[in-house]
Amino acid sequence: MTQPAPGNRRTDLTELVSPQEALPTRKAHPGELVKYRPQRPDDYDPGIVLVGCGGIARHHLEAYRDAGLSVTGLVDVNLAAATALRDRFYPDAQVFQNHHDALRATDAEVFDVATHPQVRPSIIRDCLRARRHVLSQKPFVLDLDVGQQLVELADEMGVYLAVNQNGRWAPHFSYMREAVAAGLLGETFALRMSVDWDHTWVAGTAFEHVKHLVLYDYAIHWFDMVRCLLPNSRVERVYATTTRAPHQAIMPALLGQVLIELDNAQATMTFDAIVRHSPQERTYLAGTQGVALSLGKGNNDQQVTLTTDEGAYHPNLIGKWFPDGFRGTMCELLSSIREKRPTLISAADNLQSLGLCFAAIDSAQSGEPKRPGQTRQLPG
Ligand SMILES: NC(=O)c1ccc[n+]([C@@H]2O[C@H](COP(=O)([O-])OP(=O)(O)OC[C@H]3O[C@@H](n4cnc5c(N)ncnc54)[C@H](O)[C@@H]3O)[C@@H](O)[C@H]2O)c1
Repeated sequence: MTQPAPGNRRTDLTELVSPQEALPTRKAHPGELVKYRPQRPDDYDPGIVLVGCGGIARHHLEAYRDAGLSVTGLVDVNLAAATALRDRFYPDAQVFQNHHDALRATDAEVFDVATHPQVRPSIIRDCLRARRHVLSQKPFVLDLDVGQQLVELADEMGVYLAVNQNGRWAPHFSYMREAVAAGLLGETFALRMSVDWDHTWVAGTAFEHVKHLVLYDYAIHWFDMVRCLLPNSRVERVYATTTRAPHQAIMPALLGQVLIELDNAQATMTFDAIVRHSPQERTYLAGTQGVALSLGKGNNDQQVTLTTDEGAYHPNLIGKWFPDGFRGTMCELLSSIREKRPTLISAADNLQSLGLCFAAIDSAQSGEPKRPGQTRQLPG
């Protein structure tokens, strides 16, 4: 075989070697086929009104702008907050001081309600009665029965009520969730999740006064992931504890841990929310046919390894929880409306995750294991 002259190298290697000499074709790992990136419906852009223009709202708007979605209205009792976000993200949108005015003045089909849960149910109720689809921020409600009434109202009005459980589209969780759904791990039976980070930024904000800040406001994403990653197991009981760290200055206990007993699986979660050095987040999921491990310093820099009989595969994950998680939830809602199918993030489904969360908090307060669904209101 003649070699190309130096300086005139051919780059097509198949021309340089005979078929016998060709490199063996690489066998694709099944993990390469997992589709975890949120997809937006490209022929449906119904107009969105965002209610509540506080700290989280800019992540919603960044995600929607990058996805090319139309936000036509922004609402906040503090009109200056709505105006500032309007000017930054959607200069043509209208601003309103209350959702009633927005319901009257716009024909947007989707209302994205991102206030705190105390004021949210009445806003959601008004939007549903006006036959608008609603995406509620998490944690959905403070009372499971109120949540159930909202679910029934949405059904009665023939509109969607979904919850912004955006952790499901954080790239590492989305990848693991889709790998489980595709059956790559077989039946999953063991889940270990730990988060060590510093959450003391809440000092001076409304979150400082949330008694069960860690297990309620933060861990709701992880309670929800337990259900996504162990989809064929039923939670029997949950046991949790919380305590204060020696150096913490704010009211809510910043250390929390949870033990979850399922009918054919088990799960544990630990949250150390006042670690100032070497933060770490880990998720380990074992199934009958494989293991998925996600590791990193925090939510936004996770590396996943999927190990099956075919070997280990390390997906080069694209994106970050903030803002891709927010793109994921809104695009899932819009796709389900467009395709007239049940949405993955239905409020009815979310009540199961919240029921698990409330049971854990009840357990942490009482010192007794609890069954999900029995604790109807956020304890304390
Ligand atoms: N990953 C996530 O999805 C994520 C992250 C952070 C916060 N959150 C959730 O988002 C919600 C809001 O959090 P935040 O950090 O933006 O709080 P925030 O206190 O910064 O903002 C709340 C906003 O709602 C406005 N508001 C209050 N009552 C209103 C009403 N009746 N109508 C219109 N606007 C009203 C306030 O003026 C304020 O601007 C909370 O439930 C929180 O748990 C979710």
